[in-house]
Amino acid sequence: MTKDKEQKDDLMEKIVSLCKRRGFIYPSFEIYGGLAGFYDYGPLGVALKKNITNLWWKQFVTDREDVYGIDSALVTKKEVLQASGHARGFADMLSECEKCKHRFRADQLPERSDLKSGKRSDLCPECGGKLGEARQFYMMLETHIGAAEDEASLAYLRPETAQGIFTNFKNIVDSFHPKLPFGIAQIGKAFRNEIAPRDFLFRVRELEQMEVEYFVKEADWKPAFEMWRKEVLSFIEAIGIDAKKVSELEVADGDRAHYSRRTIDFEFEFPFGRKELYGLAYRTDYDLRNHENASGVSQKFLDEDIDEPFIPHVIEPSLGVGRSLLAVLLSAYTEDEMNGEPRTYLKFKPSVAPVKIAVFPLLKNKPELVAKAREVYGVLKKEFGAVMFDDNGNIGKRYRRQDEIGTPFCVTVDFDTVEKDQAVTVRDRDSGKQERVMIKKLFEFLNDKL
Ligand code: GAP
Repeated sequence: MTKDKEQKDDLMEKIVSLCKRRGFIYPSFEIYGGLAGFYDYGPLGVALKKNITNLWWKQFVTDREDVYGIDSALVTKKEVLQASGHARGFADMLSECEKCKHRFRADQLPERSDLKSGKRSDLCPECGGKLGEARQFYMMLETHIGAAEDEASLAYLRPETAQGIFTNFKNIVDSFHPKLPFGIAQIGKAFRNEIAPRDFLFRVRELEQMEVEYFVKEADWKPAFEMWRKEVLSFIEAIGIDAKKVSELEVADGDRAHYSRRTIDFEFEFPFGRKELYGLAYRTDYDLRNHENASGVSQKFLDEDIDEPFIPHVIEPSLGVGRSLLAVLLSAYTEDEMNGEPRTYLKFKPSVAPVKIAVFPLLKNKPELVAKAREVYGVLKKEFGAVMFDDNGNIGKRYRRQDEIGTPFCVTVDFDTVEKDQAVTVRDRDSGKQERVMIKKLFEFLNDKL
């Protein structure tokens, strides 16, 4: 293994271990041996996730006049996914090793393998055994609705949030009478029976997406595509993903999803390679047209400039929540030296940091310090919400702990606070710089910084 590869594997291990140790993300059902491709979010992970999804909702929905938010059902009627093409098209080519029974996706096998063409392929990269014939593997998770388990009761857990948006297109038009262009957005879970879930949150089986379907006249799709391209880039910056590690890939004909006429992948330099972070697709009128044909319900739109009703075309920015978290964590992870000692910290932007401020009494066995620290904590908690009280261990340990979870500011109440100056020490996470701030000016001071 090369040194570079070792360091990158090491970085992923450090992130996974920090996430578990500090209460961000846990493997699901670990006491029963875990389940590949499923993760649970602990208190800090939920806070980080909510900060990211709230920023997305603000930028993509509430700050705009032309986007309507919805929250549609996860369990999806099979007719919807038959019409959208997922029931026959949402599949990967897979090959199984005859010896170790490991399954591989075409795009995860070395170049020399010939799975894409469906021909018999090479040897298993795990054990050297013979790889079996490539076959299609359908990725949708099935369920049954009602008592009977037959073809009629079959339903799917949605593989993308988008279809719940398309099936509500007519509802939004009828309720709100929007003019084109307008969008419908949602954040929610989607499910994919990935052959090889891997790389922590990168490829999971239960994922969360933030998607907009933006409806335009066909002639207007190019400027709308460009507008959303810029919005995605600005979101990447807003949540603190290192923009230097992001690049755009124009997806070639033949590699695009079945519904897309143009796709850009926003790729991120993950430690395990440059891989898709988000997608932006021009889905044409493919989905609405197919739903109109299959349901028999018109999906046409009547515009004041055009005489004939028509089916709008669609631009879709699609962002994964888990991949956002992973890219934010990787961008924030920093190792340096402070006061001659190595330290690890998460350099989160304050807007995504799960805890904004931690408040400490210098010593936990001095009631007057604890009482004052609790008073300061109470005031800050009311104002900022994500504030933590910490009196475990000594002050150095508390700083290390808060650095590791990315808390931008620590506030310490000491003897001078209660005996002399009614001021506290505020310590900055990144520089370690400490400043004395009057309690009565503390809110203003922190509010400015945060
Ligand atoms: N509606 C379009 C759509 O679903 P996609 O490229 O299949 O397109 C969109 O997925 C985004 O969802 C990806 O760019 C990624 O951020 C996220 N995503 C897709 N599959 C994922 C998986 N198995 N695990 C984690 N995130 C995933």
